[in-house]
Amino acid sequence: MKPACSYAATHAASLAHPAGFWAAQAAHLHWDKKSAEPLSQDENGFYRWFKGGELNTSFLCLDWQVAQGRAHQPALIYDSPVTRTQRTYTYAELLDMTARLAGGLRALGVEMGDRVIIYMPNMPEAVVAMLACARLGAVHSVVFGGFAPHELAVRIDDARPRVLICASGGMEFDRIIPYKPLVEEALAKATFQPAHVVVCQRDFVTAEMQPGRDIDYQELLQAAPVPAVSVPATHPLYILYTSGTTGRPKGVVRDHGGHAVALFFSMRTIYNLEPGEVIFTASDIGWAVGSSYIVYGPLLRGCTTILFEGKPVRTPDAGTFWRIIEQYKVSVMFTAPTAIRAIKKEDPDGLLAKQYDLSSLRHLFLAGERCDPATYAWAGRLLGVPVVDHWWQTESGWPMLATLTGLEGMPAPRAGSAGHPVPGYDIQILDEAGQPVPPGTTGLVAVKLPLPPGCFPTLWNDDARFHEAYLSTFPGYYLSGDGGYRDPEGYTYIMGRVDDVINVAGHRLSTGEIEEILAAHPAVAECAVLGIADQLRGQVPAGLVVLKDGQTIGEEQLEKELIAAVRTQIGALACFRAVLVVKRLPKTRSGKILRKTLRQLADGEDFALPATIDDPLILDEIRAGLQRRGIGLAFETL
Ligand code: COA
Ligand code: AMP
Repeated sequence: MKPACSYAATHAASLAHPAGFWAAQAAHLHWDKKSAEPLSQDENGFYRWFKGGELNTSFLCLDWQVAQGRAHQPALIYDSPVTRTQRTYTYAELLDMTARLAGGLRALGVEMGDRVIIYMPNMPEAVVAMLACARLGAVHSVVFGGFAPHELAVRIDDARPRVLICASGGMEFDRIIPYKPLVEEALAKATFQPAHVVVCQRDFVTAEMQPGRDIDYQELLQAAPVPAVSVPATHPLYILYTSGTTGRPKGVVRDHGGHAVALFFSMRTIYNLEPGEVIFTASDIGWAVGSSYIVYGPLLRGCTTILFEGKPVRTPDAGTFWRIIEQYKVSVMFTAPTAIRAIKKEDPDGLLAKQYDLSSLRHLFLAGERCDPATYAWAGRLLGVPVVDHWWQTESGWPMLATLTGLEGMPAPRAGSAGHPVPGYDIQILDEAGQPVPPGTTGLVAVKLPLPPGCFPTLWNDDARFHEAYLSTFPGYYLSGDGGYRDPEGYTYIMGRVDDVINVAGHRLSTGEIEEILAAHPAVAECAVLGIADQLRGQVPAGLVVLKDGQTIGEEQLEKELIAAVRTQIGALACFRAVLVVKRLPKTRSGKILRKTLRQLADGEDFALPATIDDPLILDEIRAGLQRRGIGLAFETL
């Protein structure tokens, strides 16, 4: 089913006639009831795809694939060097487990529209839990296992799940992380309580069970299988929380119909994968990349997906990705640039890659953060295949800029650029007044409405925030929060966030949230958290704090306490490790902290002294402080 059209024609058609274009794409899927109105607007004026249509994503991922003759084809390969496990699940097996777990969940009272939180690492039972929820029309919300109890509690209170499904634990390299105590702490903090906690016990850590409330996952798998429930195309499939600019995460909603159509389209046109081929997405199911391209995309397309539980390095070495490519004959691999940098650091000459047969690999896709040209070039040289940097967000759920390897006439990828607009996306670079800027000029990256299928229709329980955060700045556009530019040949470059969001090793965090935690310390009068450049993780947060008058706490002690507070409230993944006490923060005369200037200072970038700065000398003091502490690339003491 190779699309015959060229990239240019496909993209043009998608913008000229969105409803017709996507209705044609929807026809590739099985619908219980077809939509007569592919594109509509709801009472808020928000766009909705395939209103009136009915289908079920779990059915499309499993039952439909079995009906196409894929019962005995591997659907999911679980490869977990950290637990020394490798296991293949066929489509028939995955369907059976999913249908049974769905039966078990229904016996616990889970019905269409109920929410279920899944707090598990990359393990097959987590994927089955996602698909089982989808089967019932229940709305799952996977919470990344690295988040601390406080973050889990916030999500419990927002999603109000009937059931929470967790693993007894995860593995960080060879360190066991028991999850159940974290769940108990989160439940103690949360106002809302789920009726049941389903626990998937793992060999290496046994969770204590609370009789009555807690149920063993394996027990639920004994239930009789249940069929998929036909749901409206606009019915929510899942909620995925992502960092906004404050401590309150945004619940990105994904629907059944648009999501299935978009992901199916992307599997063919962006990744150029045929049914039966193998995709290895090295991400986590708690992130949008994992949800879309470990779970739903590959299964909707009838591919084989690799579920990897481990890290790119030290599990057991920096050759683990290359071993997987050889062992499972991977056609397409997808990871974050930070993972490639981690490998490059441990194996700079790529000697480990030479030990494996990588001839099955056609493309390496990268996303999650901007890929620096040096990493891009290194990966391309090492693997001998085109490297495709492509840009997307939790909000979009699938790529917005890419090199579409399944379409003809596509300009080749270029280092530093995330490529060209994917069909369905009218991407514009705007100035502060909302006017398009000329090629080569940096501006705000926006997408003209309507967004294509697959993108979030709203935020969970918060239409007002959806409108305010994304649509209100430039009417008629979705504001991405990223800055970038387009070159005269049409390549788009995404240069980083223009808001308080930072990317730490591909993990999206809010500096505003970290600031809220620092500001809550009794000694802190004021603070600014910056995302500063880091050679491995892309960015890491660093805090500049001003003490309250009369406070005598030492810098080292305060740093220790603030690091502990961030670890407790967000989690170790924030990599918050540096605090500098300063006398004052540089501000404009109207009192706005000059964060960009501070970041440029820490990164050693040239910058013009802002004309509005109230006290220019403070920057020299901060520069000296950063240098003394080795904070920031410009001052790093190696
Ligand atoms: N559960 C518990 N703790 C976790 C965790 C999880 N799921 N994930 C991360 N952490 C902890 C780590 O143990 C570490 O703790 P420490 O400070 O006590 O050592 C801390 O969070 C930082 O983790 P991380 O950034 O993962 O550092 P690392 O040294 O373990 O690994 C990389 C570095 C670059 C190899 C790793 O970050 C990586 O693979 N990144 C790619 C991420 C990715 O694929 N993102 C996809 C988004 S598209
Ligand atoms: P997340 O929602 O966690 O997927 O993070 C989305 C953010 O990651 C985007 O807003 C960008 O800032 C960044 N990002 C993702 N992919 C890319 C890319 N290919 N190039 C540059 N930035 C990226």
